[in-house]
Formats: sequence, C-alpha cells, structure tokens
Amino acid sequence: MVDNRFLELKKISKTYPGVKALDEVNMDICQGEIHALVGENGAGKSTLIKILAGAEIPDPGGGIYIDGEAVSFSHPLESLRRRIAVTYQDLSLFPNLSVVENITISRQIEEGAWRLDWEVMTDTARDALARLDLNIGLNTKLADLSLANQQLVAITRALVHDARLLILDEPTSTLSHEEVNALFRVIETLKHEGMSVLFISHKLDEVFAIADRITVLRDGQHVGTYPRTDLDEAKLISLMVGRDIRFAHYERLEPGPPLLNVKGLHKRGHFAGISFTLHEGEILGLTGLVGAGRTEVAQAIFGQIIPDGGQLFLHGEKVNIDSTNQAVKAGIAYIPESRQTQGLFLGKTLADNLSVIRLDSLVNRFGLIRRDELKSYVQNWIKKLAIRPPYPEMVIDQFSGGNQQKTILAKWLAYEPKVLIVDEPTNGIDVGAKSEIHQLLRDLAGQGMGIIMISSELPEVIAVCDRILVMRRGRIAAEFDKDTATQEKIMNVAILGNNAQRSVS
Ligand SMILES: Nc1ncnc2c1ncn2[C@@H]1O[C@H](COP(=O)(O)OP(=O)(O)OP(=O)(O)O)[C@@H](O)[C@H]1O
Ligand SMILES: [Mg+2]
Repeated sequence: MVDNRFLELKKISKTYPGVKALDEVNMDICQGEIHALVGENGAGKSTLIKILAGAEIPDPGGGIYIDGEAVSFSHPLESLRRRIAVTYQDLSLFPNLSVVENITISRQIEEGAWRLDWEVMTDTARDALARLDLNIGLNTKLADLSLANQQLVAITRALVHDARLLILDEPTSTLSHEEVNALFRVIETLKHEGMSVLFISHKLDEVFAIADRITVLRDGQHVGTYPRTDLDEAKLISLMVGRDIRFAHYERLEPGPPLLNVKGLHKRGHFAGISFTLHEGEILGLTGLVGAGRTEVAQAIFGQIIPDGGQLFLHGEKVNIDSTNQAVKAGIAYIPESRQTQGLFLGKTLADNLSVIRLDSLVNRFGLIRRDELKSYVQNWIKKLAIRPPYPEMVIDQFSGGNQQKTILAKWLAYEPKVLIVDEPTNGIDVGAKSEIHQLLRDLAGQGMGIIMISSELPEVIAVCDRILVMRRGRIAAEFDKDTATQEKIMNVAILGNNAQRSVS
C-alpha cells in the first residue's frame, strides 16, 4: 500500500475525572480511504472524534500531525480550517434555513463575505449536490427534509468546505436500508474524489461493506488498525470485546393465551388493515423499512396518535385508548426509538435517571425514600444492562451515547407493563450489550409479558422473536414464524412486497 498517510495521532490521551477515556492512542488516516472506528459502548470513539474536531482538548503529552506538521485544535473552527469536517448526530444545521443556505452559509462566513451573494451560493450548492448525485430541492426548508436528507446536506456542506477528512459519528443509526445505501454511495463518491472518511458504527455488516481499514478501541486503548480484508466479523468482535460472542439461542416457551388483539386498525395516509394477535409470553417482531408505518402503528396502540378506526382488545375485552394515559393505565408501555439524550434528565445522576419511574414504590409511608432499596434497585439495573462505568452517582451527561441509551431502556423496562412495545431497542448499543438486552426481553416474556419489538436489524429480529410481521407501505405484507424466517425472505417482502403469505389471524 502506498503510504499516503496525511493525518497522524500520536499518544493521544484524554482523562475525565475518574475515567481515562483515551490512553495513548496512535492512529493514522490515509488520503482517500474509508476508515471505520469501532469498539464497545464507552470505548472512547466519540471522545477521539471530539478531539479531532477541536471540541475537546487532549491531555498534554501527545500530538496531532497533518502532513507531518504538529497542529493543535482548541476550537471547532480551527479543525475546519485544517479541512477536517465533522457531522455529529445532531448535525448542527439550521432548521429554518433553506438547503442552499445550510450548505453554503458557513463557507461564506468563513471567507469573510460582507454580504451574502445569493447567486454564488445557489450555484455552489447546486454544483455540490450534483457532484454527489443528490436530488434535494435547493429551496426546501431544512426542517421539511427527512433526517437522512438532512444528513446528506451536512455532508454536502463538508464538500463545499473542501474537507480532506469527513468524520461521521454513527451516521446510519437512524437511517433505513435504502437511506444507508444512498449514504454509502455518497461516501464512495467522496472517496473517489480523494476525500477521506472516518466513521463510527456499531453495525458490523456496514463496516465490512464499506471500510478500507478498521481501527478498534477497547477501554480507551488502541487495539489495532487492520485492513478490512484481514478481518472477519468473528475476529473483529473478539478484538472489540476481548472474548467471543455469538447471538445466543434463546430458550423460548410456548406462548400463552391471547393478550392483545388488534383488529382493522387504520389511519389515512399512515397505515391500514392492521390486524394481529399478541400472546402472553410472546415476542412479536414488527419489521420492514423505516417509514413503512411500524412506529405509527405502535403510537396508535399507545394512544399517541388517534387512528381513524379499528379496535383493540386486551384479554378479550374491548378497550378504548384515546390517550397515552389510558394506555399506561391499561398496562401498555411504549419505549420510543431513543435518540441520544431524549428521554433523560440531563444534569441528574445515573441513579436519579434509573429510579425516576419507580420512585413511588421506593418511598415509604412517610414519604421518605428507602435508601437501601433504592440503592439495590439501581445496582440491579446497572448490572442487568451492563451500564459502564457502573457509577450511580455520575451525572448522566458524562456517559457515552450507548450507555445513555441503556439507561433509557432500563428506566422503562422497570415499569413492568403487560404489553411492552420497544422501538429499535438496541440502536447504538454495542454487540456485547445487545445480547444482554435480548436476554432481558426473553426473560420478561418468560414472565408472561407480551412484547412487540420494532427493529430493522434482521439478525436480531430472527434471533429474538417468536413471530415476525413485515410491514410495507402501511400494511402488514407478510408474517413469518421463527423457524421459517430468513433475512432474505424478509427483505424480499419489505422491499419488493413479494412472497406475501400472510395468514390472517
Ligand atoms: N464529559 C465527560 N465527563 C466524564 N466522563 C466522560 C465525559 N464524556 C465521556 N466520558 C467517559 O469517557 C468514556 C468514553 O466515552 P465515549 O463517549 O468516547 O465512548 P464511545 O466509544 O463513543 O461509546 P458509545 O458507543 O456508547 O457512543 C466513557 O467512560 C464515558 O463515560
Ligand atoms: Mg459515542
């Protein structure tokens, strides 16, 4: 391989109070390569990226070199001047401005333009979008775009900034299959133009599909950087977690009597003809492309959106659910797809966040919190979901993205509803912790809970669910049994609508 390394990190460390997030990490980026950064939740991936972005300052003792020259960034603008562009999950775009403005405004500001030249801006944005073969309306307000397109706008902006390195922190975690493909096409184009891309992902199939080299971090240390062709998935996992992990085969009991009956649920423009039965002790998978209507159906069952028609029966009795309050009273809980800090009390500790929902049961009749019980309750959930680091008194803001997700999940799982709907429960969660969450869901089902699991990750759906419904364009297009479901069959239905073999129940 030609040595075209242009960026080097040497002995980069970052210490937070009590945590060494990075410990003398060495790595380099070559020009025109796609480089994946992987590791368990809390391994230090986001911290490394923040340092490259000038958003965090590393400990003294290490160095960043560009073309052999030592550089230091103490502000995001400084790394942008060195042509390093970062898009975080929140994308830092301007929702009320147009696509043109979002793509070009920071460039204009950086160049010190004393007035905005609308014509130049439009031309620049149009060219950049065309170079990436993107079909996004120039004058559309950003807020009116899908999340996927907003992300593509953020990437187009990096192109306009003439970035040498584009950094993406979990860019695919909220994208559908088709959107991921579109993003990857754009990344490949950038690569052919000589740009380098560094991205973080927990989805190893994606890493193998697109990365030229893969860097593995574990507990803040650099395990190694490998050409993709030197690794396979099993090898990579053992490098990440230091042990072998396989998707376990879960003990499944015969599902019990019908618990929730959904009959003919429909809402104009969203979904129609939704009928199915969820049994006690059953995990029912609800899959399909993002946008197929899965989340809307869940929200309708949970009273968050009111359907135009249809009926719900719990234990055979008709229930009217017009509000989330009624749903909760009836014993239905819905854990929405969590994005970053949504659903957390920022500034509060891990213990506070974990216990907030069960506080009533942890208070004695004098209104005092039973400290010992609270403590063991919190410890128990930290252990169950392997939350790292296991410090109840640490402020939630200081946990890594994946550990924040686990906290949100734990908070709701503790609620012990009869019917639990989880939406993409393992999004952003590492491969080791994933199997712990799967086991937990199986355990809850084993206690009689009925669970609807919305997930786009087919290996997960197949490993965990008893039955799988595939939605396509607002309808249930097929139903599979755990023994007959394969990824291929499910994808076929989800994308093409083939193979419709639903036995209406
Ligand atoms: N502001 C902070 N204060 C204290 N500790 C922090 C802070 N930010 C991160 N950490 C700690 O640094 C470590 C690395 O966190 P980082 O966010 O880099 O992990 P990550 O690899 O991105 O994980 P994930 O996959 O969960 O997003 C974790 O132990 C985290 O708790
Ligand atoms: Mg992270």
